[in-house]
Amino acid sequence: MNTKEKKIRIAIDGPSGAGKSTIAKAVAAKLDIDYIDTGAMYRAVGYKMISEGISVADSDRERLKNMLERTEIDFCGGNIILDGEIINDRIRTPEVSKMASDCSALPEVRSKLTTLQKQIAASKSVIMDGRDIGTNVIKDAEFKFFMTASAEERAGRRHKELIEKGQDISYAQVLADIKTRDKNDSTRALNPLRQADDAELLDTTGMSIEDVIRFILSEVEKSGTN
Ligand code: DC
Repeated sequence: MNTKEKKIRIAIDGPSGAGKSTIAKAVAAKLDIDYIDTGAMYRAVGYKMISEGISVADSDRERLKNMLERTEIDFCGGNIILDGEIINDRIRTPEVSKMASDCSALPEVRSKLTTLQKQIAASKSVIMDGRDIGTNVIKDAEFKFFMTASAEERAGRRHKELIEKGQDISYAQVLADIKTRDKNDSTRALNPLRQADDAELLDTTGMSIEDVIRFILSEVEKSGTN
């Protein structure tokens, strides 16, 4: 049996900066399946809200609903596409991170994006990362991992990434932002960040990227699905 014949769905959840997307991308390439970055979808909505001046306040709810109705989000060749435009780099700013976290608590936004994510996962083998994949989007995924690391290590990784992209931001600011997002993401009423009962905990503090990739691939191989 291999991933071409049998559909496999791998769910990876965890807080910001745990390394989910780097790992998921590499595992997807190894298994030759699609990688779906659900955080990028919330970021795309957050980005469009900022562009159109829509806030998360109740008074803007009708404008938000209207905006969501005319929003198309797609993945193609490793790019995230919003209404036909590639927006990869534009969604990786601290401002968009904050708006993505804030708008992800709104029922209209979650409903739109989880419906789309469920449709994608129903159609093919995928590795999908986010906050509620194992608990909500793909409850019956063949593999579920909850990936985490200390807030300090996650802030260090994210800070390095932002500096490499030329952004001027301090480590202290990145750590504070991560702690705020952790709190927002795990305390919101709708599908908060939490480990699914049947997910395997993967604490990546002190682990190399290669070690984590090897671990996930070995779990898939062990099961005989690959
Ligand atoms: O993974 P990320 O940091 O790019 O995600 C951006 C925000 O989107 C994050 O703060 C929480 C939200 N999110 C979510 O609520 N549910 C998901 N499945 C993925 C992300």
